[in-house]
Amino acid sequence: MSERPSQEGKLSPGAPNDPVPFGGYYMLGLIARGGMAEVYRARSRKAGSKRLLAVKVMRPQLAREARFIDMFHREGKLAMVLKNRCIVETVEIGEADARHYIAMEYIGGRDLTQVLRRCQELQQRIPVPHAVYIAARIAEGLHFAHTLAGPDGRPLSIVNRDVSPSNVRLSYDGDVKLLDFGIAQALMKFTSEIGILKGKFSYMSPEQIRGMPLDARTDVFSAGIILHEMLTTEKLFRGDTEFALMEKVRKAEVAPPSQFNRRVTPELDAISLKAVARDVADRYQSAAHLAADLDALIAGYRFDPKELRQFIRQLFRKEYAKELEDSQIAMEAEPGMTIRPTPAPNTGQVPRATPMVGTPALAQPPAVPSIAVQPPPAPGHSAAPPDDDDKPRGFWSSLFGKRK
Ligand SMILES: Nc1ncnc2c1ncn2[C@@H]1O[C@H](COP(=O)(O)OP(=O)(O)OP(=O)(O)O)[C@@H](O)[C@H]1O
Ligand SMILES: [Mg+2]
Repeated sequence: MSERPSQEGKLSPGAPNDPVPFGGYYMLGLIARGGMAEVYRARSRKAGSKRLLAVKVMRPQLAREARFIDMFHREGKLAMVLKNRCIVETVEIGEADARHYIAMEYIGGRDLTQVLRRCQELQQRIPVPHAVYIAARIAEGLHFAHTLAGPDGRPLSIVNRDVSPSNVRLSYDGDVKLLDFGIAQALMKFTSEIGILKGKFSYMSPEQIRGMPLDARTDVFSAGIILHEMLTTEKLFRGDTEFALMEKVRKAEVAPPSQFNRRVTPELDAISLKAVARDVADRYQSAAHLAADLDALIAGYRFDPKELRQFIRQLFRKEYAKELEDSQIAMEAEPGMTIRPTPAPNTGQVPRATPMVGTPALAQPPAVPSIAVQPPPAPGHSAAPPDDDDKPRGFWSSLFGKRK
């Protein structure tokens, strides 16, 4: 264990029981590598600090672009004023070891790309009420940002521009959090310049693809795509070439999700299609209107948000067990200390509920889930055949992208 600092260009990721200093933080392991950055589990180096954080460190080549850095810091500061239950909290924007970073609250859970991919692999669906609830919370977070005013009372006109499944995180406590708010414009501008925007086209609005001026309604469209994909377990817009994909988005000809999932009602079809209307005038005019229609539907389902928590824990049983173990170790680890991890439970049971950091404590261990979820198949075994009703129909080759 180490007071070894991370070196320029290459960061030591640390581990839950092996904290490595980086600026004012201890790195406690790599969460994932995204397109433009690496995300680490971290903790503040301040004495007594137990809160887990996620530090998103931009790739070194971005730091060479002065214009990018300006934008990144300007937009990042904007992200810090976004305090809403559906938006990940940004704690700090900074620079250490010649790397630019954003420190955020840590959300123990999975992103929606991972959830959709797991559902595809298991040939199972996100239950309709869960999908509607997730989309409603996305719309709620968006509306908060869209309508936020600055200290002078003037609207800040924040538009996310990068609402996509990889930027929606579902916590093991059932929270829905939008990620990457605020920095999208800087990232998009730069990624478009160096030509790695490709993966982003599938979640853009027609006006965004055309390079037209954008307002809040572009985010409504992207949220509508996510809703459609959660209902169908299929990618909505895809194409063999970038050009073909962009053409599809421009035309925005969308089939009602009930064609793929007979549990989708006509009301939900209507909401879903209105969110992805090609012409902005035909679309929901605000994310709040979309959220209101979705929440009205949820009232009819008698859905309890706790079911989302159970769903995500069941869908990622092993990962959840590991998360509990790692988080516990990470919160206690101090440099120089040797912490022996307790062996991971191998009972196949979901462990007793321990609240993830940053979310309210649970009064009780999780109840038996009220929805049937197939556990991941054991190696060498295929998944048990799913209930026919829950088996997505349609084109199955469009797996949601694997993490790089
Ligand atoms: N605050 C956070 N807490 C926990 N995990 C996070 C947090 N922020 C990001 N992540 C996870 O880190 C991973 C990488 O995120 P990142 O934003 O770098 O990549 P991406 O969203 O796949 O691509 P993009 O560069 O387009 O944003 C994702 O799985 C994301 O859910
Ligand atoms: Mg992201």
